[in-house]
Amino acid sequence: MEAPRLRLRLPFLLLVALVVSPPAVAAAASRMRIEPLPTAALRRLYDTSNYGKLQLNNGLALTPQMGWNSWNFFACNINETVIRDTADALVSTGLADLGYNYVNIDDCWSNVKRGKKDQLLPDPKTFPSGIKDLADYVHGKGLKLGIYSDAGIFTCQVRPGSLHHEKADAAIFASWGVDYLKYDNCYNLGIKPKDRYPPMRDALNSTGRQIFYSLCEWGQDDPALWAGKVGNSWRTTDDIQDTWKSMTDIADKNNKWASYAGPGGWNDPDMLEVGNGGMTFAEYRAHFSIWALMKAPLLIGCDVRNMTKETMEILSNKEVIQVNQDPLGVQGRRILGQGKNGCQEVWAGPLSGNRLAVVLWNRCEESANIIVKLPSVGLDGSSPYSVRDLWKHETLSENVVGTFGAQVDVHDCKMYIFTPAVTVASS
Ligand SMILES: *[C@@H]1O[C@H](CO)[C@@H](O)[C@H](O)[C@H]1NC(C)=O
Ligand SMILES: *[C@@H]1O[C@H](CO)[C@@H](O)[C@H](O)[C@H]1NC(C)=O
Ligand SMILES: *[C@@H]1O[C@H](CO)[C@@H](O)[C@H](O)[C@H]1NC(C)=O
Repeated sequence: MEAPRLRLRLPFLLLVALVVSPPAVAAAASRMRIEPLPTAALRRLYDTSNYGKLQLNNGLALTPQMGWNSWNFFACNINETVIRDTADALVSTGLADLGYNYVNIDDCWSNVKRGKKDQLLPDPKTFPSGIKDLADYVHGKGLKLGIYSDAGIFTCQVRPGSLHHEKADAAIFASWGVDYLKYDNCYNLGIKPKDRYPPMRDALNSTGRQIFYSLCEWGQDDPALWAGKVGNSWRTTDDIQDTWKSMTDIADKNNKWASYAGPGGWNDPDMLEVGNGGMTFAEYRAHFSIWALMKAPLLIGCDVRNMTKETMEILSNKEVIQVNQDPLGVQGRRILGQGKNGCQEVWAGPLSGNRLAVVLWNRCEESANIIVKLPSVGLDGSSPYSVRDLWKHETLSENVVGTFGAQVDVHDCKMYIFTPAVTVASS
């Protein structure tokens, strides 16, 4: 009933706004959403209504962060030797050259008590040379050093937390040459994340050092709705476990927030378990492919000093990494599920250059032939596409029209890039 009146009033209000305060209108316009997708078909399927709303502006995370984190494999059993050796291994295996450049220390690096001046101290038994020394070492390898703290009074392993110590702790991290902070959520006194995470953003900013800010409030307060203004990435779920069930649950939960991802700020479904032994090769391949497609951080969670050939094959797949690091930065998502229980899944995501990444993911308990009608993923139903298989490293066809299908093993996936075929002009 009110709608017609509103319609009459809006143009009038806009006119008033233009006349009365042009700078306010200009600011509103600059905050208007950027539309990254070229066709209506893509826009219908891939909601990007929150893309480009980045406000943090610390110049980081234009593509999802890549690197390694100590937690999934080592948990609390860390020391400076393991961190150094890992930095060495990232370089010697070639993973650093593929973009894995953050070496991130998780919980347990710090002493259980603060120092006389209330300052954070490294654990003298396990990090006797100190964090500055380690940062220098890591920087000397061309890599970056990440550290961990908590938006509570203790970390999850009961080391000092940074709640109400944000300024001093950010300053000491910066003085050590730290490049990345993962900020956890334990012992938080029941204070809302929205009140606990911004003070550290401001503290990091005021150090003047560019420090990647990774929020880890476990998806508790729907961080996608507010964290773009606070951090460079935000966890959307509980911790990942090294199991098929945990990995698939987390993928589905993270999928919900796809429209909020974009250059500068990413949904974080937690670190990779590839190489830790709890899943099959096919399951790890699917884990890596889906994380890459979802523009998730690619943080290796295994012992890179001692990887199998299979683990290395997955983590070093350059073509899959390129999907993750595509400059368009639109999160791919689950488009449809076919078969019994819809477990023959099709996931896809737009890439720069009018390309589309497509993952056929068989989450059923038997091998399946998964078939896609191209318009169902946002492609043109009558134009030819070139199709590249990112795991076979092979262009399968230059002329796929209308539908595409492939046999996919149990829990495995196939990953492709569809590119409009170059049509030869007839003259
Ligand atoms: C601090 O925040 C301002 C305003 O968003 C931004 O322009 C600047 O780059 C930030 N500096 C650092 C070091 O993050
Ligand atoms: C450092 O940590 C690694 C991994 O847990 C362990 O194997 C090694 O023994 C530790 N080294 C020292 C000196 O404690
Ligand atoms: C390397 O990994 C294998 C399992 O893949 C394990 O059996 C072995 O103990 C590991 N070696 C070291 C030095 O950690």
